[in-house]
Amino acid sequence: MWRFLILFCFVNIHKNIYSQLVYKDSMQPIETRVQDLLKRMTLKEKILQLNQYTFGENDNPNNIGEEIKNIPADIGSLIYLNINPEIRNNIQRKAIEESRLGIPILFGFDVIHGLRTVYPIPLAQACSFNPKLITAACRMAAKEATLSGINWTFSPMVDIARDARWGRIAEGYGEDPYLSGVLGAASVKGYQSESLSNPYSIAACLKHFVGYGMSEGGRDYRPTDISKQALWETYLPPFEMGIKSGAATIMSSFNDISGIPATANHYLLNDVLKNKWNFKGFVVSDWNAIEQLTYQGVAKDRKEAAYKAFTAGLDMDMRDNAYGEFLEELIEGNKISEEQIDSAVVRILRLKFHLGLFERPYTTIVNEAERYLQKEDVKLASLLAEESMVLLKNQNKLLPLSPSVQNIAVIGPLAKNKTDLLGSWAFRGNPKDVETIYEGLEKEFGNKIRLNYALGCKKEGNDISGFEEALKVAKTSDLIILCLGEDKSWSGENASRSTIALPRIQEELLTHLKKAEKPIVLILSNGRPLELARIEPHVDAIVEIWQPGIAGGSALAGILSGRLSPSGKLSVTFPRTTGQIPIYYNMRQTARPYGNMGNYQDIQTTPLYPFGYGLSYTNFTYTNARISSNKVRKDEKLTAEVTIINTGKSSGKETVLWYIADPVCSISRPIKELKHFEKCYLLPGESCVLRFEINPYKDLSYVNSSGVRFLESGKFILYVGTEKLIFEVVE
Ligand code: BGC
Repeated sequence: MWRFLILFCFVNIHKNIYSQLVYKDSMQPIETRVQDLLKRMTLKEKILQLNQYTFGENDNPNNIGEEIKNIPADIGSLIYLNINPEIRNNIQRKAIEESRLGIPILFGFDVIHGLRTVYPIPLAQACSFNPKLITAACRMAAKEATLSGINWTFSPMVDIARDARWGRIAEGYGEDPYLSGVLGAASVKGYQSESLSNPYSIAACLKHFVGYGMSEGGRDYRPTDISKQALWETYLPPFEMGIKSGAATIMSSFNDISGIPATANHYLLNDVLKNKWNFKGFVVSDWNAIEQLTYQGVAKDRKEAAYKAFTAGLDMDMRDNAYGEFLEELIEGNKISEEQIDSAVVRILRLKFHLGLFERPYTTIVNEAERYLQKEDVKLASLLAEESMVLLKNQNKLLPLSPSVQNIAVIGPLAKNKTDLLGSWAFRGNPKDVETIYEGLEKEFGNKIRLNYALGCKKEGNDISGFEEALKVAKTSDLIILCLGEDKSWSGENASRSTIALPRIQEELLTHLKKAEKPIVLILSNGRPLELARIEPHVDAIVEIWQPGIAGGSALAGILSGRLSPSGKLSVTFPRTTGQIPIYYNMRQTARPYGNMGNYQDIQTTPLYPFGYGLSYTNFTYTNARISSNKVRKDEKLTAEVTIINTGKSSGKETVLWYIADPVCSISRPIKELKHFEKCYLLPGESCVLRFEINPYKDLSYVNSSGVRFLESGKFILYVGTEKLIFEVVE
């Protein structure tokens, strides 16, 4: 009996305490808590929720901003540049204890490819075609982030990029909408896990909505001219897939789309995102982007900019405080209503509740040794690096290295380089953690192979004084491993280049080393596809390692020695020359596909290496491709299958890419479109059967310029490896 009494008292005390404060009661449904809190808020408090300030050291050179000294206790969010959980908790304490309602702050930071355990740049990750690995890597990044006091990352970037002059190509998953959508969703799953309230979950942010990758001429921040058709078939799909996977937030892009900046784009933010797609999360602007509406020529001042962005559906103002300054005035002037403010505030509060910030506002402090660079995490970074590397050339099967090789010349500005292997957007990566190419080789070969190092030259400039020393080293070795590539600052934000070739000095170093008449293995570390037309003919093998993060050295060395088999395939096309841009596999058909019509006169029209290209040490034979029926009704499903046999002498991983083509449609479609992919691991002689279950409405349909999906009957072609299957869709 007394037990019931205690329970009764407890329930009543609990009720009494919280009857006034429903929003603090974790037993209540989130929507009830949000509404209760909203009801208690003043207009000023609401508006502060719509603002994001920065705090701390700003080491993004593009965002030189003033550190916020006096953070209002009621601020909605901070970009927390310090990542020190103790400082972060002190700021949070101010919000919880000094603000009237104790609303926690949402701490955001750009965790793009790992926090301290930096793994490969996204463009490289995409070459792994391994969503599970990407989910695992993002989960690991989320854990390091939460332990550093971060609740929200501005990632993944799912901008389709088909112009490698644009430095931000490094940050996304390449040129294909389907691949970007699948990997974007995999990344969201990693960051957010099964539930945002999991202590190691952070909120994801799909960015940059939308069309940023089309910046004119590859110049960052420039306008884009994108037809509605292109928008719907190419640029929007990865965002839609990311939203379906549960992404909590979206960031609007800097660019204008055919005249209307994304920041103030009513059609995109309200009509498409919030109404058509029913997105329940919130939209944050990009850095200072509201104010930038004045530079973009659509707002006469900051007040009008705030008005335009807010009424277009942009919920949170990153960094420029235009909402803080003007929303109240806009209400007073009857330009906007408090209900409109409420609907934006609700979206932000909802995320704070979902993240469990009201229950657990503070970060648990663990010591740094347990916070970062855990052994299994470094292993994961290495595995992802390995699967991201692409073997582009392997003449006379030079790789893996033959046991007769005893002396290797390791030459080039990237050979002992730690910093650049981290890539862009790795603000908390520490070069000290990075294993260089040279160190990886040392570890792999021990004293079995002698390594002879020479720098040769710097990444750029005219100083050729190291050429002779490099040639001497090359002459006394059996083979040359030449490590060329890019500085990490040559890609990422505000890092456009007029040519995607390497600086001339690096090409000249290669030409010079040819004099040694030794086989050359070229190792490339870069953040974009490169123009290799002048280099490629002079080397025997090429391994593209991208910017692999902290653990690329061993992964590469394992590939060179043959301990590991390369399995990456390109997520983006490598043109022969910069002048071929734009060039991507899923172009539309030409009107004259015969003869040499419409091609460049001075170079071949094909790319040097197409999307999906990548060699292995073993051979995979595709055979016995078939389809369950060669006629399918629109509401039926089809199953296609293919057998893959490892007919080579070593084990390896193969990514099987399934493409469809619709040769006749009322809107001319791309030559082929990736619709499904899967990766398998096979020992020599082993085989496996892979299947693609085709759902006509999902996999064969197309979209028109209003975003309406349609499926037409007629002939379709399915390509897998060298196999081709033809079938018909009937009414
Ligand atoms: C970039 C965003 C980034 C933001 C916050 C901007 O300059 O465009 O991608 O998330 O800064 O650092």
